[in-house]
Amino acid sequence: MEDKVLNLSRLKGKIIAIDGPAGSGKSTTAKALAARLGYQYLDTGAMYRALTWFALQREIAPSDGAKLTALASSLAIEFKTESKINHVYINGQEVTDEIRTPEVTQHVSEVAAHKGVRKAMVEKQAELGKDGSIVAEGRDTTTVVFPHADLKVYLDASVAERAQRRLLDLARMGVSTTLEEQEADITRRDSFDSGREHSPLTRAKDAVVVDTTQLTIEDQIERIIELLKTYA
Ligand code: DC
Repeated sequence: MEDKVLNLSRLKGKIIAIDGPAGSGKSTTAKALAARLGYQYLDTGAMYRALTWFALQREIAPSDGAKLTALASSLAIEFKTESKINHVYINGQEVTDEIRTPEVTQHVSEVAAHKGVRKAMVEKQAELGKDGSIVAEGRDTTTVVFPHADLKVYLDASVAERAQRRLLDLARMGVSTTLEEQEADITRRDSFDSGREHSPLTRAKDAVVVDTTQLTIEDQIERIIELLKTYA
């Protein structure tokens, strides 16, 4: 045990970037890993979701790149982790649950595809990570936001497994949906996110692929800590 604690303290200050498709377990793994290492957890998807929620409230269309870019540059997005919950705030208003609704999920890929939106978000994310000791999770964290991360992990899982996980997450939030709907949504988002012009979902050459289809969260965390000891 002492050995383990010593090893973990040697790992202070690193940047770990975790990427992968929708439902691959990025969020749960990154959050738990950050807690285990005493690192900051950065959920970059939550930032795009918060912007999407804010825009929908003000009836700004997900296709309106100019307005969304101006919003992305001016809005303050903050995180506070309390009792293992990552609270999200936009301009001081808590939107932790609001950003997970199907309506936001449906429009966020389009909002996140605008070049200006991405530039503004990447700047905010790089600033949050400048002192290290951070686990950053999201589509371009291994390629664009933290290209020099100490460890890059690409989490993957089968579409069926990812849809099943989403279904359970939504059920916990009281949202009723079907496995078929979730499989279709995940397939649609995969193809949109991989095919978009700016920062498409790609696997960084130096990212280590971890297939989580058969792994528990605890297994995933152990695997990444082992990788960190080896690579970082
Ligand atoms: O990981 P998530 O489902 O919360 O992400 C929501 C959306 O935001 C997803 O469709 C892709 C987009 N996203 C992105 O484009 N870049 C990131 N770094 C994170 C998320």
